[in-house]
Amino acid sequence: MTRSEALDKLSSIGQEHVLKYFDELDEGGQQALLTQIEETDFSVLSHIKEAGSGSGRGEFSPLAAMQRDEIIRREKEFHDAGCDVIKAGKTAALLLAGGMGTRLGSDNPKGMYDIGLTKPVYIFQRIVENLLDVVRETDTWIRLFVMTSEKNHQATVDFFEEKDYFGYRRDRVVFFKQDMAPACDYNGKLYMEAKDRISTSPNGNAGWYSSMVRAGLDKILTDEGIEWIDVFAVDNVLQRICDPCFVGATALAGVSVGAKVVKKAAPDEAVGVMCLEDGRPSIVEYYELSKEMMEAKDANGDPAYNFGVILNYLFHAPELAAVTEDAMPLHVVEKKIPYIDDAANLVKPDKPNGYKFEQLVLDMIHQLDSCLPYEVIREHEFAPIKNPTGKDSVESARELCKADGIEL
Ligand code: UTP
Repeated sequence: MTRSEALDKLSSIGQEHVLKYFDELDEGGQQALLTQIEETDFSVLSHIKEAGSGSGRGEFSPLAAMQRDEIIRREKEFHDAGCDVIKAGKTAALLLAGGMGTRLGSDNPKGMYDIGLTKPVYIFQRIVENLLDVVRETDTWIRLFVMTSEKNHQATVDFFEEKDYFGYRRDRVVFFKQDMAPACDYNGKLYMEAKDRISTSPNGNAGWYSSMVRAGLDKILTDEGIEWIDVFAVDNVLQRICDPCFVGATALAGVSVGAKVVKKAAPDEAVGVMCLEDGRPSIVEYYELSKEMMEAKDANGDPAYNFGVILNYLFHAPELAAVTEDAMPLHVVEKKIPYIDDAANLVKPDKPNGYKFEQLVLDMIHQLDSCLPYEVIREHEFAPIKNPTGKDSVESARELCKADGIEL
């Protein structure tokens, strides 16, 4: 793209300021900026008028979870079925590590965070060790996809290399980068993070599927006959990944997706709750739960909206092709966005200063036909690390790990 083509593209959307420093840049910088302008989809900016308006939800109804009593009763059946699926090479794991981890406040990828007390115990290490339990049990090297972002890709790959993949077989690990979206101020004006770069951020936790396809990795799914993908967040250091019972229960239920859920600690706990929306699987956010929904009871007299999601889903790969990006709403999210000010100094704001654009996994679930919410025990499988201290923090996760017998 030439400078004048770039100017045309930008002026049609009122963003000419992106070229403010163009003439000062060296040739490499000019080229990098032109390429970014050419490759960026600026149509997302038109969504800022929807900020704060919610996405217009349908009618919610409860979706019963498979609870512990049934799972314990059918444990052998689920376990055997799951082991068969895994041993046949039909299961992959996909680590979502594209996020920015802004709340944790470290410049490194979140997975590099060391939660150890007497020895180093990195978040990535905890995850790989959890997966290795299943590898040993089934004698099968499960394919592991790691989604990074443009911002943390090299650091993530280098870290895995340096730590010798924490004992995982390196030829079973594939890294790929998540697509990025531009970020803007409250008036829709694009932020610049450097004189030669528009501010960008990863396009949300549902960006994994389209990014994977764009990277050509769906070929691995077909070539290796992978039918199930366990997609999970980087920050839950206790979760079991591709555990045979979950895989078996989901496969036997014949659903499009299995979702690990935990019993809510209180009716108003701040977690998304698995439900139906207009008859299709969905997630209702805690702030969308009406008083009636919080008080609604199921046939056993238990709360009907009682199971929160923990961002660990087992997707049936053949049905993912039906998930189209176009049909997924774009969420306009207020965030802290680093930018260069009028004097070209980099500013790292300490409160939100604009919008990022994200696609969320809940919208992906909603496009699928059926879902099995599968109950796991919170104390054994849910230790999210979002903040340095307090709720969902390094501190709280350490306590949960210790109670679970993990040496830190
Ligand atoms: P969070 O929504 O908690 O975001 O991500 P985050 O980036 O880790 O942290 P904050 O909000 O900036 O503090 C939940 C999971 O989804 C992944 C994260 O890496 C984490 O595993 N994620 C999130 C992505 O892979 N890409 C994204 O664009 C967003």
